[in-house]
Amino acid sequence: MISRETIEEILVRTDIQSLIGSYVSLKRAGSNLKGLCPFHSEKTPSFTVYPSSNSFYCFGCSAGGDQISFIMKMEHLDYPDAVEFLAKRAGITVEEHDSAQYTSRPKVDKKRLYEMNATAARYFHAQLFSDDPEAREALSYFTEKRKLSVATIKHFGLGYAPNSFDKFSKFMLSRGYSYDELVTGFLCGKSESGRYFDAFRNRVMFPIIDVSGNVIAFGGRVMDDSKPKYKNSSDTPVFKKTRNLFALNFARTACEESLILCEGYMDVIALHSAGITNAVATLGTAITAEQARLMSRYTKSVIISYDSDEAGQRAAARALRMLEEVGLTVSVLSVPGAKDPDEYIKTYGVNKFREVISGAKSKFEYNLSKVLGKYDINLPQDKINALHELENIISAVYSVAERDVYIQTVSKRLSVDASAIRADVDRIIARNAAAYKRGEAQQVRRDSVGYSDRVNPDFIKAPTVARNEENVLGLLLEFPEHRRSVFEGELLTEDDFFTELGKQLFLYLKSAYASGDEHLVTMSEVFSDEQMGRAARMRVGRMALTANGKEVLLDSIARLKNSMEKKAAESTDTIAALDALLQKKRNG
Ligand code: CTP
Ligand code: MN
Repeated sequence: MISRETIEEILVRTDIQSLIGSYVSLKRAGSNLKGLCPFHSEKTPSFTVYPSSNSFYCFGCSAGGDQISFIMKMEHLDYPDAVEFLAKRAGITVEEHDSAQYTSRPKVDKKRLYEMNATAARYFHAQLFSDDPEAREALSYFTEKRKLSVATIKHFGLGYAPNSFDKFSKFMLSRGYSYDELVTGFLCGKSESGRYFDAFRNRVMFPIIDVSGNVIAFGGRVMDDSKPKYKNSSDTPVFKKTRNLFALNFARTACEESLILCEGYMDVIALHSAGITNAVATLGTAITAEQARLMSRYTKSVIISYDSDEAGQRAAARALRMLEEVGLTVSVLSVPGAKDPDEYIKTYGVNKFREVISGAKSKFEYNLSKVLGKYDINLPQDKINALHELENIISAVYSVAERDVYIQTVSKRLSVDASAIRADVDRIIARNAAAYKRGEAQQVRRDSVGYSDRVNPDFIKAPTVARNEENVLGLLLEFPEHRRSVFEGELLTEDDFFTELGKQLFLYLKSAYASGDEHLVTMSEVFSDEQMGRAARMRVGRMALTANGKEVLLDSIARLKNSMEKKAAESTDTIAALDALLQKKRNG
C-alpha cells in the first residue's frame, strides 16, 4: 500500500498538461487545453485539460478525472499500478506501508507475486531445455508434434513443468518463496492432509503475460490424450481470468485495425509465429463482457476465428453478440477443412489463412450461411422460413444500398424475385419504425431528465434534485477552500442527497476532508472511471465561478435542500402535492 503523502507528492509533481501532452497533442484554448480525445475517435477536439484543477474531461465521451485516472485509462492499469507508473515517471520511490486507512485492498504484495511468477516461468522454460529425458520429450512435443521453432518457444516463454510433486516447489523454496505464497499464486496446492504439491506436473507450460509484461498466470497442457487437456491458474491476487487475454501483450501493438480472437493458446501461437501477430485468445473460458471491453480499448474490429466444430461455432455466435455490444465491428472467419486455425495454417499455409481473413464473413454473410444451413431450401416451407428470417435480418440494416446488396444476394440464393423481397423488407421496416417511434418518444422523455444514465441511474427519479446535487458536488470538488465551512459547519448531511452516486460522492468528500486529503488522492481508486468522468463533468460547469464560489455554493445548497423537501413531500403525500400544484396554478 502506498501512503497518501506519497500519492499526493506524485500528483503534485505530475504536471497534468505535460503528462497528457505526451499522449495527446494539445492546443491552448483560453486557460485550458484542447485536443483529440484518446478514448474515443473524433475529428473535432472535445477533450479538454484543465491545468488549474488538475483534471481533464471529454465532452464527447464523458471520460474525465485526474492524472491517475488518465493513466489508468490510457495505459490500462489498475489504481496501484497507475500510481506506480506515475511515481516512476516523477522519479519518486514508492515505499510500501501498511495502513488500512486509504484502501480496502487486503495486503498482498503484488510485486512479489509477479516476481514469483517470473521466477517460475524462467524455471519452467529452463526445464524445457534440460537434459532430463522427460524434458526432452516435452521439447520435442513442441518442436516435432506442434512444429514450433525454438524462436517461437522463446518468444512465448514456453516451458515444461517436471513430472514430480515437489521438484518445482523445492526450487522455489530455495529461491526464498514460501508455500503460502506458492499456494496464493496457484503454483502449489495443499492436500487435505496438509501436504503441499506442485500444481503443474508433467505439462508443457504457457505463461500468461499481461500488457505490462508481468507473468500473471500459467496454462499447462498434457502431451498426450489424457484429461484434463489443460490446467489453468485459478484467479489470484494478480490474475483474473475473465479480464485478461492470452498474447495481448504481443498483439497490443499490432491490433489497431483488428484483433483476431481464437479459442486456443496453440492457435494464437501458430498465428504469431506465422507473422500474424494480432491474435489473442481467452483463457479457458467463454468470452466475458470484460474481455470484450478490454478488446474495444485496443482495436476497432475483431475477427472471430474459433474452432470449426459445433461447440466452436456456437461459441462464435455468442462472442459475436458480446463484441458487438461493446461497439466493435465483428466478422467471423471459418477455416474449412481444419479443426482450428492452428491446424489450418499447418495444412494449407499462412497465405491461405490470410486469404481466409480477407474473406472473413461480415455479419450478414455469417447470418446468411447460418440461416441457409438451418433449412433445406428445396422444401417450400423451409424456403419460406429461411426467407422470413433473412428479411428480418436485412430490415435491421440501416443503409439502403447495403440492404439492396443483401436483397440481391438472397434473391439469387433462394431464387426469389428481388422486388418481392424488397417489398417485404420495406413493410417490416415500416412496422418497426412505428414501434420505434413509440419507443423513441419514451426515450426522448427519459433523456430529457437524464435517463439512459448508467453512471447515475437514480437521476431520472428526481431530476431536479439530482441536478442540484451535481451543482453542489461540482462546487465542492472544484473548490477545496469551501469544504471547511460545509463540513465543519455541517451544512450538509448524507440525507440531503437523493441519488446513490450523490451520496457516495458526498461521503467521500467528507471523509477526505476529515483525513486532510485536499487533493482527493484516492478518488480514482474509490470510483469507477465512468464515475470519475461524471465527477469531472460536475466540476467543469463550476470552474468559472472562482470569484464568488462561496455564495454560489451556499445558494446551491439551499436549492438542493429545497428541492429535496419538495421531493419528499411529493412522495409521502400525493394529495398534499396535488393541492400545492393546484394552489400554484391558481396563483400563477
Ligand atoms: N481449455 C481449457 N481446459 C481444457 C480444454 C481447453 O482451459 N480442458 C482452453 C485452453 O485455453 C485451450 C482452449 O480452451 O487453449 C481451446 O481448447 P482446445 O481447442 O481443446 O485446445 P487447443 O489450444 O486448440 O489445443 P490443441 O490444439 O493442443 O488441442
Ligand atoms: Mn483447438
